[in-house]
Amino acid sequence: MKYLFLMLLGTSVTAQFTSNFYKILATDTLDKNLATSPISIEILMRMVYMGAGGSTAQELRKVLKLPADKKEVAEKYKKLLTNLEGRKRLAILDLANRIYVSDEYQLNSEYNKLVKDSFKAEAKTINFKSLGNAVSIVNKWVNDQTSGRIRDIVSPKDLGADLKVALLSGINFKAQWQYKFDPKKTFIADFHVTAKKRVPVEMMTLIGYFEVKLSFRLDAHMIELPFRDSSLSMFIFLPFKVDGLKKLVPKIGTYFYSRPEKEKVVLKLPKFKIEYSADLSRVLEKMGMRDTFGGSADLSGLLNSSKVPINKVFQKAFIELDEEGAEEPTVPVDRPCRQCEWDFNAEHPFAYVIRDREQNTTYLQGHFVNPEK
Ligand SMILES: *[C@@H]1O[C@H](CO)[C@@H](O)[C@H](O)[C@H]1NC(C)=O
Ligand SMILES: *[C@@H]1O[C@H](CO)[C@@H](O)[C@H](O)[C@H]1NC(C)=O
Repeated sequence: MKYLFLMLLGTSVTAQFTSNFYKILATDTLDKNLATSPISIEILMRMVYMGAGGSTAQELRKVLKLPADKKEVAEKYKKLLTNLEGRKRLAILDLANRIYVSDEYQLNSEYNKLVKDSFKAEAKTINFKSLGNAVSIVNKWVNDQTSGRIRDIVSPKDLGADLKVALLSGINFKAQWQYKFDPKKTFIADFHVTAKKRVPVEMMTLIGYFEVKLSFRLDAHMIELPFRDSSLSMFIFLPFKVDGLKKLVPKIGTYFYSRPEKEKVVLKLPKFKIEYSADLSRVLEKMGMRDTFGGSADLSGLLNSSKVPINKVFQKAFIELDEEGAEEPTVPVDRPCRQCEWDFNAEHPFAYVIRDREQNTTYLQGHFVNPEK
């Protein structure tokens, strides 16, 4: 599936699964730059649920907090996904989800009818024994679905002749800021990877008028940077301390996004590109999906065998942000303010969240810890 702008779930679904998923993955990945879309994983696992039976279905229902009625799950998605067709905006968010099943099984013909319609994604069979072929089929599909920006979601060492079921999720995000940075003002600065280690980074800078605040619960500063012509924003959580990310990560999922007053801000933000890819099945196992990833999953609604494990959950996300934006930032001078100038200097590891303000939904999140990684 491919949307220029994805708008789903909204307020009707609890964010508990996605925030737990993020917390586990981000805590395990503090030494690397991270970009992930927990909501895409949620969509994939709900697709799996539609084909699951017995204790596998029970387990998925529990971890995903789903109702017992599968029809209810499917219909909710159908409504939400249908709403977004035709909405073309300037922010590009490609989400590509698919289930690949070894061709030693036969897909249940009813399954794709159900998920295609409701989830705008499908299951396909593939010959994992012909390794080179399988790798190129999977990579071509993801590439086509993500505006050509995600190449090589899998390599030959990721797949193998013994694979039974693999889940795939590709995400590409590209947008322009509402307020542009002047490229002539971008300079080389020190990024403090740790208190002792510094690495040069291209630092963008501007003076503007933004929603910014300080949270003692998070021990961090937070700023909201809106994207052009959309209700999407990037929230940056900058810990007070150089090494504050570890403590911050578990608290972000439950952070309530209130709207503070706008203040004048001197902003410094690294120009960054993050490409993150991993097999995320271990995160889902940690969350309690043991049957599903063990040898005994019951996927009898999906394929013609009752004991088949899901082996892998590959996700690759790509996000790139530079100076491009729509307007010059404006700084009104005739307005009283509490702290007349904020210095928001993202020169050490920080977390970010890309959210839709209207939908109250997080699409993509992660952290930036090192310009070299
Ligand atoms: C499932 O379908 C495949 C392909 O038609 C067949 O070779 C296989 O024997 C079937 N497996 C079971 C358990 O029925
Ligand atoms: C937005 O989501 C958060 C977390 O799920 C929730 O606590 C909050 O009430 C929601 N706000 C609105 C306006 O729906």
